[in-house]
Amino acid sequence: MTVDVPTQEGAPSGSPKPATARRIAPATGSLGVLTPGMGAVASTFVAGVIAARRGLSPPIGSISQMAHIRLGTKTENRNPPIREFVPLAALDDLVFGGWDPLSANVLEAARACGVLEERELGAISAEFEGVVAMDAVFDQRWVSRLDGVRVKPSAPKWDQAQALMDDIENFRSAHDCDRLVMVWCGSTEAFSEPTAVHQSVESFEAGLRADDEAIAPSQIYAYAALQSDVPFANGAPNLTVDLPCMEELSRLRGVPVAGKDFKTGQTLMKTLIAPGLKARMLGLNGWYSTNILGNRDGEVLDAPENFKTKEVSKLGVLGTILQPELYPDLYDEIHHVVRINYYPPRGDNKEGWDNIDIFGWLGYPMQIKVDFLCRDSILAAPIVLDLALFMDLAARAGESGVQEWLSFYFKAPQPSRHAEVEHDLFIQQTKLKNTLREWMGEEPVTHSEAG
Ligand SMILES: NC(=O)c1ccc[n+]([C@@H]2O[C@H](COP(=O)([O-])OP(=O)(O)OC[C@H]3O[C@@H](n4cnc5c(N)ncnc54)[C@H](O)[C@@H]3O)[C@@H](O)[C@H]2O)c1
Repeated sequence: MTVDVPTQEGAPSGSPKPATARRIAPATGSLGVLTPGMGAVASTFVAGVIAARRGLSPPIGSISQMAHIRLGTKTENRNPPIREFVPLAALDDLVFGGWDPLSANVLEAARACGVLEERELGAISAEFEGVVAMDAVFDQRWVSRLDGVRVKPSAPKWDQAQALMDDIENFRSAHDCDRLVMVWCGSTEAFSEPTAVHQSVESFEAGLRADDEAIAPSQIYAYAALQSDVPFANGAPNLTVDLPCMEELSRLRGVPVAGKDFKTGQTLMKTLIAPGLKARMLGLNGWYSTNILGNRDGEVLDAPENFKTKEVSKLGVLGTILQPELYPDLYDEIHHVVRINYYPPRGDNKEGWDNIDIFGWLGYPMQIKVDFLCRDSILAAPIVLDLALFMDLAARAGESGVQEWLSFYFKAPQPSRHAEVEHDLFIQQTKLKNTLREWMGEEPVTHSEAG
């Protein structure tokens, strides 16, 4: 039986609300979404948003636009769409911009990468072509397979950061933006480890002035964003905001950051299947993953130093989900291999094969084969939208530092304050929804028998 209790003014009866909701500034005016990198993912993201706001296609794959959220106990029947529950920016209020060393605008990028068909592009081409790329901060030493042409003059890194900040302010005033967010959709940079220059804001700024070799272009964008009070999310596996200097700067400026590497194709499958095997206490001793893809991302990842960055990001997943330290009988020795092969005929339509060796009762072996014929950018585009909207929400809710509640979207989630990362998609989903409930002054949903 539900008992009616006095509620806050305006709240529906039978839905008690604890009076602890966050103060969240309203989403008034325009939100500028800036993407360093205007290739396959960024152009597919912009095309999908334009199509959704014209009613041509629903935003499939976007949690912020399509998912509902249960509130209160099962019997209360409160299940609003997330976009009505939390004050998100509306799709109509988004404006797009970014930087790219190759594409002049998103229409050109979309045609070059071949994700979308001409019939989709034709319908939106005028609006699409208006989303032009600014000249990039680019350095071929970090992406050897690309030869950038639309690049800022080579200058000390400090000046490059200032030039990006000027771009940000010019974009803000030209498009009359109330707020901005930045989502890195650029190529994966060569593998690197943090050095002394990344240990504090002070050392990083000294490094920018001294043109320190260890500072990658993506880090210059992140620095410029944070200094301009623009939240930054990293969709690629390179070292960008997962650095002490960036965490410090994000707290100093009161700006949220999140990363890294969009969780799409094969890793999405891995984080769906592995928690299920563990829930059933089935053993696992091998997981061989291989991919063929032929887009520009595949070409960049064909360079060993860039593949290494991706490999590290992809390999981290299984250990934390399966917890071999707790379950040595089941997961003590896992042979986990990940390969990516550049194969031009496939374009963006990647094929990911997984061979999974598992074992059950009395140790008898079994195998699972997965052949996922996916479309990389079709899976990644709604993630860009959700990250842009949720990062903007986080900023308006007064958040700064690492937004661990957005781990759901990443292959290699960035932990907050060195906590353990969580890779299990279902725990990540619970964390995301419970964070939204908490901010709105609702009880977390525990799925216990009582709740
Ligand atoms: N598509 C997916 O499913 C997926 C999943 C996870 C991560 N990612 C990552 O997202 C990123 C984008 O993927 P994509 O398929 O759009 O690749 P893409 O090659 O089509 O686009 C990347 C763009 O970044 C540009 N670029 C390179 N260096 C730059 C710089 N310094 N400044 C600005 N732009 C720069 C390139 O010119 C290119 O146009 C890649 O790093 C990829 O690894 C993609």
